[in-house]
Amino acid sequence: MDISVPFRWPVLSQSTVDRVIEQLSVSISIYDRSGVFERFEDRMASYHGRRYAVLFNSGTSALFASYVALGLKPGDRVLCPAYTFLATATPLLSLGIAPVLIDCDDSGNLCPVALAAEMSSEVKAIVVTHMWGLPASIEKIQAVADQYNVPVVEDISHSFGARTSGRLMGTFGKVAAVSLQAQKTLTGGEGGVLLTDDEEVYYRSLAVGHYNKRCKNEIPSSHDLHQIAVTGFGMKFRAHPLAVAIADEQMDSIENVLQQRRSVAAAMMSELSRDEKLKVPYINDDIEPSWYAFVMVSEPRVVDYIVKRAKEIGMVNLDRPLSTCPLNHHSIFRDPGQFKGYYPLLPSSAPVQPPSPNAERVWRGSLKLPVWHEKRDLELARYHVNTLVELSREFES
Ligand SMILES: Cc1ncc(COP(=O)(O)O)c(C=O)c1O
Repeated sequence: MDISVPFRWPVLSQSTVDRVIEQLSVSISIYDRSGVFERFEDRMASYHGRRYAVLFNSGTSALFASYVALGLKPGDRVLCPAYTFLATATPLLSLGIAPVLIDCDDSGNLCPVALAAEMSSEVKAIVVTHMWGLPASIEKIQAVADQYNVPVVEDISHSFGARTSGRLMGTFGKVAAVSLQAQKTLTGGEGGVLLTDDEEVYYRSLAVGHYNKRCKNEIPSSHDLHQIAVTGFGMKFRAHPLAVAIADEQMDSIENVLQQRRSVAAAMMSELSRDEKLKVPYINDDIEPSWYAFVMVSEPRVVDYIVKRAKEIGMVNLDRPLSTCPLNHHSIFRDPGQFKGYYPLLPSSAPVQPPSPNAERVWRGSLKLPVWHEKRDLELARYHVNTLVELSREFES
């Protein structure tokens, strides 16, 4: 088996090329909700069974729009996972909010118990990521939020197509945002989508990133924001039609990709179950991850050893997530005030953070493989896991 061949994603076929060429002849800038924008937004909304889907030029800007649309203000108390990709939470910083970082459970996802411990009437929003495509305990998280009538924002950038008890991620929170960046399960190269059932969130999100024609067409004249339809709030986060044409074409095969990844991941899991040192997070029967990645957790010293040996034997697809780390490792979350001179909208300080030992342990102990998506890769996927199991045994001896 050749472990020196890099995992390739996305799959761009002749059909992708055809759709891009077709779009080139139609338009490379769309000012309203027409053409490929309308088609793709309708598809996103109907896939998730949500009323509204709004395109953005990135997942980061879709998250930013979500936070603005919820009416969050500088200094607001927002609870966010301690362990997530930085862009889940950096848009909060740019609104003058330093999030409270909540520890994860053994799965690496926001822990509902740790969340409940930080809840109060002061909390204005809860953010949740379904890390690496594994659904968080979203029903429990939503129950905690409902108790305090606090909106939940789901970052489904890793978990497009993942389900809990048959229900898709992105259908629980008041708002959900997804990245369409190149590595993502559904991709356009770059791009993002905001999902909501809430009319007010929809109008506000338009004013955040879609000034002029879209706002004029879609925000009713009876709404306060119609007065600023031409200008919006000042920023433009419109998507590129070629990126959306790619994402629209990729959407045609999304169920097939998810299905393939599930069967490959099952094979990878079965290789691992014989081993004690490397563990995948426990997955309940009612959970269907999207398998954005296959993350195993072990002791950091075992991980150090495996990473070193994997490099020696030329295994190129093994990754130790580094920048996807507990957020308090980033200076901007620890001490945003230090950078206020450069960007005055940053918060002056961070709140006193609750401890997050699990986030640290899960991150330091994580090893990540891609989940291959074609039948012919099944043996290759098994072989990777098997090799890692052998390396972990070497560590013992
Ligand atoms: C969990 C998560 N949230 C947000 C983002 C930001 O998305 P984008 O890169 O499209 O801005 C990413 C993408 O890398 C991500 O993985």
